[in-house]
Amino acid sequence: MMQEQMVVKKHSSIAKDIYEMVLAGDLVRQIARPGQFIHIKVGSGIDPLLRRPISIAELDRDRCEITILYRAQGKGTKMMAEMNPGEKLDVLGPLGNGFPVDALRHGQKALLVGGGIGVPPLYELSKQLKARGVEVRHVLGFESAAHAFYIDQFSALAPTSVATVDGSRGTKGFVTDALAGDGWNFDCIYACGPAAMLRALETEYPGRRGFFSLEERMACGIGACYGCVCRTKNSPDNATKKVCSDGPVFEMGEVLI
Ligand code: FAD
Ligand code: FES
Repeated sequence: MMQEQMVVKKHSSIAKDIYEMVLAGDLVRQIARPGQFIHIKVGSGIDPLLRRPISIAELDRDRCEITILYRAQGKGTKMMAEMNPGEKLDVLGPLGNGFPVDALRHGQKALLVGGGIGVPPLYELSKQLKARGVEVRHVLGFESAAHAFYIDQFSALAPTSVATVDGSRGTKGFVTDALAGDGWNFDCIYACGPAAMLRALETEYPGRRGFFSLEERMACGIGACYGCVCRTKNSPDNATKKVCSDGPVFEMGEVLI
């Protein structure tokens, strides 16, 4: 982990309130797994005080670049959306454990399920699983067609189903509606998205092997403040885990969502 002023190489709007930013810097060399995240300090003053956790969506080791995809919704991300190529961004990272790509072997099957701003880390995950010879399918959920992003990029990697809440693209409803009746016999499910989506997947696939990335409000991002704890399941001593440093990826069923 290191703190660095990363350089904004590219920055553009790619869907309603969604931005794609390419950042260059040395911390790229330390990234070990897809699903790790960076913690971004926006602006030079004390407001906003807290860093914003954003997943690494794509990794280019040769160029020492990463791509992040983020939704400009609150104060910090709206300030980020104003940034131009050439400017510098204060970044702490890489943080978190990431998705275990080595959980699957050549020829096995992985189902990747993403909802909204949970979609980004699945892109690099899919690329790395494919590079291992794993058979991949994606199911991506968005609010509407206007909010949907990276569908062409995911489709170029593997078969991709889409669900939108208003039915303006793909299946009307949630990712679970797009999955309904699909009897594809995957070996492992990897998912990232809102808690309600992750709970629905746990209910849908009890006892199956899977890894979920949790979205939790964070302060330090490095395991020091206990601002992001969650409870482990079936633990007699009510043990807790820190989403920032023990996660954000947990084995399905490991923690209470
Ligand atoms: P504000 O309302 O100004 O934020 C106020 C505070 O609440 C900040 O500390 C902020 O970090 C926190 N907060 C608000 N919403 C969330 C949230 N959903 N999750 C966590 N903290 C929140 N978003 C993306 O768009 N793309 C990503 O790739 C992405 N990856 C993430 C990876 C991880 C591990 C986590 C925990 C969250 C991720 N998020 C991602 C969510 C993102 O961190 C929040 O949307 C963002 O921090 C909101 O900041 P803001 O300035 O827009 O909102
Ligand atoms: Fe401080 Fe996780 S955010 S311990």
